[in-house]
Amino acid sequence: VAPSLVDTFGRQHNYLRISLTERCNLRCFYCMPEDGVPLSPNERILSDDEIIRLATLFVKSGVTKIRLTGGEPTVRKTIVQLVGRLNELRQHGLQSIGMTSNGLILHRQLARLVANGLTHLNLSLDTLDPFKFEIMTRRMGHESVLRSLSQALASPGLTSVKLNVVVIKGLNDSEVLKFVEMTRDQDLSIRFIEFMPFTGNKWDKAKMVPSADLISRIAAVHPGLVKAADELNDTARSYQIPGHRGSIGFISSMSDHFCSSCNRLRLTADGQIKVCLFDAKEVSLRDQMRAGADDQQLLQTIGRAVRGKKEKHAGLPTRSSSLTRAKPVPSHMIMPA
Ligand code: GTP
Ligand code: 5AD
Ligand code: SF4
Repeated sequence: VAPSLVDTFGRQHNYLRISLTERCNLRCFYCMPEDGVPLSPNERILSDDEIIRLATLFVKSGVTKIRLTGGEPTVRKTIVQLVGRLNELRQHGLQSIGMTSNGLILHRQLARLVANGLTHLNLSLDTLDPFKFEIMTRRMGHESVLRSLSQALASPGLTSVKLNVVVIKGLNDSEVLKFVEMTRDQDLSIRFIEFMPFTGNKWDKAKMVPSADLISRIAAVHPGLVKAADELNDTARSYQIPGHRGSIGFISSMSDHFCSSCNRLRLTADGQIKVCLFDAKEVSLRDQMRAGADDQQLLQTIGRAVRGKKEKHAGLPTRSSSLTRAKPVPSHMIMPA
């Protein structure tokens, strides 16, 4: 019998984030150094068959929601087929397949991805200004991302399209109202994300804009701004402007952590299970699989990792009460996917 993915704090894990690659075709300064991150050799990255084997075990253990991440998931050559194979897990209880993408080459594959079962898309786009895009991502391609966004909004197969905006003081915070304007006529959720510290990502408290400041700025122009219902386990707090088709949300990882309702597990591109974004302690399911483990043994390892999950931020002192206490996370990890 498959163990249910419940930890010792009673949290039920029904959401699996699968990283398909460590590679990325952008170099957002808040995420990656200019030269990129050290990459695992190809043979250490999970194959499609290995991903499907593990995803099947997770779904049979209660995962209903899968989100594909990276690096940048669309740089994995087999992504369209992989989504199609994941879609077959609906028969075992999978309800949604999402992806978080920077949109740079997504427009080439989006129609096929949706045809194969992709239902939820989160696009990262921090600026509406092509010059700032180049500064923030250290690459060209703003137009391509906008093309992916308009394709996504015109795609009836997608039940949700969200735009992730990491807000950096003095860089793109002046554009917040322009992003809000995009929700007037489009069924789009814009999420403003607090800049989080990761090892070597140039984090500086002075560049972080607390969500509360953004909410007051937006409310000054849109006095009708109202709190909307949040989905259980949502990272974002949602708001609505009356008359707008879309919505806005705030992901306040720095000022309001959401550990108590965390329902997420992560599978890294090289096959490790991570029970918390901030957890450096990873257990290799790849090594176990390659050593010939059967499904039961893999399920035992997964169950053990889940039961070892700490109450908050991998057991680190909470950073929610005071931003002055915020410290870079002692992890080798760069991308907070
Ligand atoms: P859905 O809720 O499935 O739409 O996606 P999401 O918002 O969880 O994921 P997405 O990949 O779009 O990430 C948005 C932001 O949430 C990013 O800045 C992530 O780093 C952050 N995030 C995602 N998961 C976690 C988590 O477990 N803990 C924290 N603190 N932040 C997270
Ligand atoms: N702080 C906040 N969000 C970040 N992301 C990447 N690095 C950071 C950071 N340091 C965002 C990306 C993407 C999402 C998966 O994580 O912009 O939208
Ligand atoms: Fe690539 Fe996303 Fe990191 Fe930007 S934030 S460098 S798009 S992985």
